[in-house]
Amino acid sequence: MGILERADQRGVWRLSEDAGKNLHRIIAGNQLVAFSTRLGVAIWARHKEVFPSLGEPIALCITSPPYPLRVQRAYGGPTSEEYPDFVCTALEGIVRALQPGGSIVLNVANDVFEERSPARSLYVERLVLALHDRLGLALMDRVPWVNLSKPPGPTWWACINRVQLSAAYEHQLWFTNDATRVRADNRRVLEEHTARQRELMAAGGAQRSAVYGDGAYRIRKNSYGRETPGRLARNVMLRGHACTDTKAYRRVATSMGLPLHGAMMPTAVPDFWVRLLTDVDDLVVDPFGGTVRTGLAAERLGRRWIVTEWIREYLQGAASLFRNNAGFACNF
Ligand SMILES: C[S@@+](CC[C@H](N)C(=O)[O-])C[C@H]1O[C@@H](n2cnc3c(N)ncnc32)[C@H](O)[C@@H]1O
Repeated sequence: MGILERADQRGVWRLSEDAGKNLHRIIAGNQLVAFSTRLGVAIWARHKEVFPSLGEPIALCITSPPYPLRVQRAYGGPTSEEYPDFVCTALEGIVRALQPGGSIVLNVANDVFEERSPARSLYVERLVLALHDRLGLALMDRVPWVNLSKPPGPTWWACINRVQLSAAYEHQLWFTNDATRVRADNRRVLEEHTARQRELMAAGGAQRSAVYGDGAYRIRKNSYGRETPGRLARNVMLRGHACTDTKAYRRVATSMGLPLHGAMMPTAVPDFWVRLLTDVDDLVVDPFGGTVRTGLAAERLGRRWIVTEWIREYLQGAASLFRNNAGFACNF
């Protein structure tokens, strides 16, 4: 099955690096431009060999580091105990290059449990503290990414033992290096008004006045009547997994006989953060690139981007998503 390989000494075996998944990890010390466009570049490399020496101000890093899962995905990952150090080390160089008020957004798992227990690991809390204490980042928000199309799980604790609820969200942790100057603008992510709000605006606002509870919350005549271009986005991200880019990636990867990526995010997730936290031409980066969704969202929004990914097959599949973009060139 390719899970074991011979070590140098006779009669000694070890776990093979990629456990037979047919994945090609870049050799340490090497870097290769996998593909590029006029706005960005996807580099087949370990992140630590690119970002610490970049020398270019970064406006936003949005990334999903490998989750600390008990059964790891094909590309590997740290344990929950190692996680804070793993992420801080990966982000050090990026944080040094972050513009004042720039942001770091991390997508991390919620469904990580203590050993043989339905209790959730506190690794996210440790991670937040480490990013604050070691890298000086300020926490802007913990935004749950609610994905109601997740299959029921965790299997053991929710479906078999029936003690946990079926999981439906992951964390999007948003940090900045300078909260007083954060380069966010919620007018770039306005949502459509509800029908009720449109009616209120058309009628010139509420037609009554009311006081609720101890008076902390009041409706005055004409409240909510001001015409505004859209509704403020709430700090809960509702996005399903369905994504035309994921479907396109799967089609191409399958037709090329490439192993599929096991943890793709829909492009709508980085799209939201890129809009909220950057301007046209800003630089957006992702050290754990996978299928380069951060790059794709940035490209479509006219931002510059740099993504690293250490497994060649994921970049080969991702390249197809960029083929029609200006200046596309591919080295595979
Ligand atoms: C959770 S996945 C990211 C998925 C991505 N957001 C997407 O939507 O396709 C994490 C990725 O980081 C890559 N990776 C892990 N360690 C790395 C390293 N040191 N340098 C570059 N890439 C790495 C893995 O191969 C994997 O594809």
